[in-house]
Amino acid sequence: MGVQIVDTGSYVPETVRTNLQMQEICPDCDPEWIEQRTGIRERRIVGANESTCDLAVAAAQQVMAKAGVYAKDIDLLIVGTFTPDYHCPSTACLVQDRLGLDAPAFDISAACSGFMYAVTTGAQYVATGNAKMALVIGADSNSRIVDQKDRTIAPLFGDGAGAVLLSAGTLQQGFKSYHLASDGSGAGMLDRPCGGSKNPITAEGIASRQHYLQMDGRNVFKWAVRTVVESIEVVLESAQLSVHDVSLFALHQANQRIIDSVADKLNVSRDRFYNNVHKYGNTSAASIPLVLDEANSEGKIDRGDTILMCGFGAGLTWGTSLFVW
Ligand code: UT7
Repeated sequence: MGVQIVDTGSYVPETVRTNLQMQEICPDCDPEWIEQRTGIRERRIVGANESTCDLAVAAAQQVMAKAGVYAKDIDLLIVGTFTPDYHCPSTACLVQDRLGLDAPAFDISAACSGFMYAVTTGAQYVATGNAKMALVIGADSNSRIVDQKDRTIAPLFGDGAGAVLLSAGTLQQGFKSYHLASDGSGAGMLDRPCGGSKNPITAEGIASRQHYLQMDGRNVFKWAVRTVVESIEVVLESAQLSVHDVSLFALHQANQRIIDSVADKLNVSRDRFYNNVHKYGNTSAASIPLVLDEANSEGKIDRGDTILMCGFGAGLTWGTSLFVW
């Protein structure tokens, strides 16, 4: 059975934090350095009373309204996030309650690959007939887990959510191929050392700022470019397609230089990649559905188009797919 993306939705918090405002919080942050090295000009920040669940609910409400889909129609909810409201219960259960769904609900934790893991999982339920209408959300409140005083990481991340509804489609629609992968030997390249069952929160952990996200940026960068190119080649080969068959490249938005390097290595014109990292920074699991929703709203995606999606990040995890809209 084919699977279709019925529609898309997204939400970003109201508060904009520009690079200049970033410098007010983190004086070592050079606004020009941020833009030159990452392409990021500003990012959105959750309000004091907002959380990942609120972002996810707002994105879901938008896609449901656009598609004319009601709570009673949805029979599966998956939330990709690595900044859940609580360690327990899952954010998906909080979203399920807020939306009034009668559906199983669970989180997928795959950091910046969270949406890729979630949307491929949702599609399996639809393709096998086990779900009629799956709501898949990617949502993250990164500003809550990033040390705003650390110039090497604070300016990179922002907050947001994106959502898609999946239902049965024509035989031509859905995933032509996908490639999900993991390499836990690289876990230490991007992690939050303190706050889990291994190293519960302690005063010492907080004092040494180990409860915040840590990243070996330079090595993650090199790994990302190499891995994304390889993964794109894998999905193209397995679908027996070439870069020329791709209508739109929707990559995880971590750094404009990563996206440009991937485009150059694939010999694809940079303008075939849809980018919004300048507005939102790295929103982790939200970045791909935010790209899809913006491109869709701007009329840049038509039925029958082949969309290449690719996420990569902590774990290490990565996931790439070719999806016929
Ligand atoms: O979403 C999950 C995946 N994450 C990623 O894909 C992120 C991958 N990594 C990156 O995007 C880049 O490596 C960064 C943006 C994190 C860093 O860029 P870079 O070009 O690799 O810079 P660098 O880490 O090599 O740092 C160059 C210099 C350093 O100073 P020294 O050691 O040369 O004196 C940094 O301390 O730039 C300095 N620097 C800054 N200077 C001003 C780092 N951050 C800043 C800053 N303002 N905000």
